Amino acid sequence: MNGEAGRVVELRDVLVRYDGNVVLEDIDFDLSAGEIVAVVGPNGGGKSTLLKVILGIKNIEKGTVRVLGKPPSEARNDMGFLPQISTYKRSFPVTVLDVVLMGMYGRLGLFRRPKRREREKAMDTLGQVDMAQLASRPFKDLSGGQQQRVGIARALVSEPRLLLLDEPSTGVDVVAQESFYRLLEKFRGEKGISVVIVSHDVGMIAPVVDRVALLNRNIHYYGEPTGALAPAMLEKAFGAHVRLLVHDEHCLTCSRR
Ligand SMILES: Nc1ncnc2c1ncn2[C@@H]1O[C@H](COP(=O)(O)OP(=O)(O)OP(=O)(O)O)[C@@H](O)[C@H]1O
Ligand SMILES: [Mg+2]
Repeated sequence: MNGEAGRVVELRDVLVRYDGNVVLEDIDFDLSAGEIVAVVGPNGGGKSTLLKVILGIKNIEKGTVRVLGKPPSEARNDMGFLPQISTYKRSFPVTVLDVVLMGMYGRLGLFRRPKRREREKAMDTLGQVDMAQLASRPFKDLSGGQQQRVGIARALVSEPRLLLLDEPSTGVDVVAQESFYRLLEKFRGEKGISVVIVSHDVGMIAPVVDRVALLNRNIHYYGEPTGALAPAMLEKAFGAHVRLLVHDEHCLTCSRR
């Protein structure tokens, strides 16, 4: 175990297909304890698929995946997951507290009555993201930034060692994003957790992470954030998508004002 000390995620030569089409190929990806990394790439580049492979909910065709030295299916309880935002929308009313409790049991848990200790744990986690005061409100009535914080609480409530966040900044203003990044820093500092953040905007994410992976079917770059920002590197990885990548988030913010 000591030889593996610090190694939280390890992917080697991974190949993934959907319906016969290769969506990830030759993927080598490592993450150390306490590291915060970003996976950046264009739509359809395979970012969400990569998270699903780490979670063990998408099978690989070739290669190996280890999470904390184990197959992903055996490391489920060590992982917290914030899905891409559309997955979150729910047609039935659930409270903020319910959403956090789901992080303990999965969806079926909604129909089982949580114990007092579990509710206290969920309230405590909501407090850590400054959302305890909204615990009994319907989740759908919250603003985007508030929903994002609750999503983080849901991902954190089981005290994971690895946090996987799929586009956590979608639809969220710059101020909320900054407080969110401070929150990640806090959890890294206090609990030493490792974080993978999926984003489509390398410019927004580069200042807050240790390393950046540029993903578009292959990993075209994995290293210092500054290296990922080099125009030649972006063009190699994304070609015509470069302008979209760098400006998309800012334009989104502009139009929300
Ligand atoms: N359940 C699925 N069935 C079939 N194809 C899929 C499925 N999920 C993803 N794909 C395909 O796999 C490729 C990678 O998708 P993925 O969702 O990983 O991209 P992404 O980088 O997360 O994109 P986005 O930025 O739009 O979220 C795409 O071509 C997509 O159409
Ligand atoms: Mg995605």
